[in-house]
Amino acid sequence: MVNVMEYKLTIRKAASKEELEELYDLRWKLLRKPWNQPKGSERDEKEHESYSFIAILDDKIVGTARLHKNNEKEGQIRYLAVEKEYQKMDIGKSLMKKIEMHAINLGLESVILNARKTAENFFEKLGYKVIRKGHTLFNEIEHFVMRKSLINSN
Ligand SMILES: CC(C)(COP(=O)(O)OP(=O)(O)OC[C@H]1O[C@@H](n2cnc3c(N)ncnc32)[C@H](O)[C@@H]1OP(=O)(O)O)[C@@H](O)C(=O)NCCC(=O)NCCS
Repeated sequence: MVNVMEYKLTIRKAASKEELEELYDLRWKLLRKPWNQPKGSERDEKEHESYSFIAILDDKIVGTARLHKNNEKEGQIRYLAVEKEYQKMDIGKSLMKKIEMHAINLGLESVILNARKTAENFFEKLGYKVIRKGHTLFNEIEHFVMRKSLINSN
């Protein structure tokens, strides 16, 4: 395991076409490839109206997540993923905090996300609450729709 304290962690928006391509690769590798989904399935029609963030450890992109607006009050977070060997080092949490700050700066009042069952407790620790059962992706990955208010603790 890598000692994250020895590295410099930067979380910021992807700033170039190259960084976008790299984060799409990371999304695909972690969120699509294990279920035999083709390259391209890691993107959707909202890429051009979204804010894609990357976590950079020294100069390596090790995590990513995306925010888009559902409407003037509600944001949605998708495609959160951290490279396997860098998980459990607070990188996912740092990405979520940065995205939530960005959502607040956009004037959003809440964020929702579709959490995989395996990540539900991770999001709960960050203050997200299940509001309903969601879809089942690729016939096997159960999801739960979770929500967090950005203006109070509800
Ligand atoms: C889910 C994921 C993004 C978490 O990222 P991470 O960098 O490993 O998480 P962090 O180190 O920031 O963890 C923050 C806290 O959540 C806990 N945590 C992390 N992953 C967890 C999980 N799957 N279940 C329960 N708790 C978890 C950590 O132990 C830590 O707890 P602490 O604050 O009490 O110490 C990462 O495991 C991942 O990329 N998984 C594969 C892709 C995926 O499932 N993405 C989410 C799709 S909805």
